[in-house]
Amino acid sequence: MNSFSQYKESYQEGKTLPQDFYTDESIFTDEMKAIYFKQWLMVDHVTRIKNPGDYFVFEAEKESIIIIRGRDNEVRAFYNVCTHRGSRICLDEEGSKKLLVCPYHAWSFSSEGELKAARHMPDDFNKSENGLRECHLKIFEGLIFINLSMESPMDFDEFILPLKEILNFHNTGKSKIAARKKYPTKANFKLVLENFQECYHCGPAHSELSAIHEKDWVFTMGAGLGTAPQKDTDEYLEKIRPWVEECRKKGIPSDTYLETEEGLKQGLNRYFDRTPIGNGHLSQTKDGKPASKLMGKFKDFDGGLSQVSFNPFGCCYFTNDFGVMFIFKPNAILESEVELIWLVNEDAIEDKDYKADDITFIWDITTQEDTTIIENNQKGVLSHSFVPGVLSENESAVTYFYDWYFTNMQLP
Ligand code: FES
Ligand SMILES: [Fe+2]
Repeated sequence: MNSFSQYKESYQEGKTLPQDFYTDESIFTDEMKAIYFKQWLMVDHVTRIKNPGDYFVFEAEKESIIIIRGRDNEVRAFYNVCTHRGSRICLDEEGSKKLLVCPYHAWSFSSEGELKAARHMPDDFNKSENGLRECHLKIFEGLIFINLSMESPMDFDEFILPLKEILNFHNTGKSKIAARKKYPTKANFKLVLENFQECYHCGPAHSELSAIHEKDWVFTMGAGLGTAPQKDTDEYLEKIRPWVEECRKKGIPSDTYLETEEGLKQGLNRYFDRTPIGNGHLSQTKDGKPASKLMGKFKDFDGGLSQVSFNPFGCCYFTNDFGVMFIFKPNAILESEVELIWLVNEDAIEDKDYKADDITFIWDITTQEDTTIIENNQKGVLSHSFVPGVLSENESAVTYFYDWYFTNMQLP
């Protein structure tokens, strides 16, 4: 019996995970292999690298990936590992280069990953066999996804299919980056992800978010379906039915997508919903007023919010006029990072059509609050007195997340 199945036996449904899941290095290593390295991970927006030679480095766990636009205008992803003796090649977070030169012995690689120069090598050395190792990459509607699997990953078209319509509608392919911010979090990644599955904490922890949205939205839909017991959710959905009907008439995708039984068996967890912000608010801003030009295919403001999730490591929220990409990264057993990237219409001009502070206000403050509560959670989970606690009726999505987690850990 391996350690994971022993640990799994100690998990009781309806409670949080036992302490070892958050503290055992061997579990973390297994999780990276079984889960993180197999997912299609949303990592950035393509407008970060507009010109040939533009690159950025995506780092998570021990991996470092160079995402670069080649001279042929194709975007590719390469392991930031020199094929000579393994040094990191790009040391800056982003930049623009004609050649990627390794800082150790100066082997140099083209923006398409080919080895161009290596000094004093034996006569039989073949440069064409020593290019950078490529990593799976796909772009959909301007969103860059990578997959760190060393084998063939799940077919990307199949993966993105249920979320295509909503992403097309918000037209992320015709948007640009308005702001970005990183939130290093001293906690195991599962505590970060669990926190994002529930809004039981929203009342006590997020006064600003709770003020912007209608109270019953926070209670029933703050973390998507599963935020509240079915009866309360049904009542809320009945209340907003006329608004949803109106959206449908206008051709705005407004049905909820919950992962299919088949998808769950494959370890998938895709989701989207669209609900009104409420309180007469048109956008997720402090005063509820629009923050920028309309984005996507909207003809007017309807005050809606779309929550689109690819898997627990990445999701996007969209109002009518801006989007926020949420990227959750495990770095080490007790170290994670959340990165937020805000998107606006590609034609919007800063300070004329939008102010970055208005757009970033709610998710910046909410994520700072989340960082604090997650780090406090981790501190308590490390105590020798910690035992798994009973989940509330407003945390059933945490159990749903654990089911996803266990399915992935046990997939062949
Ligand atoms: S390790 Fe990169 S050139 Fe030697
Ligand atoms: Fe939160």
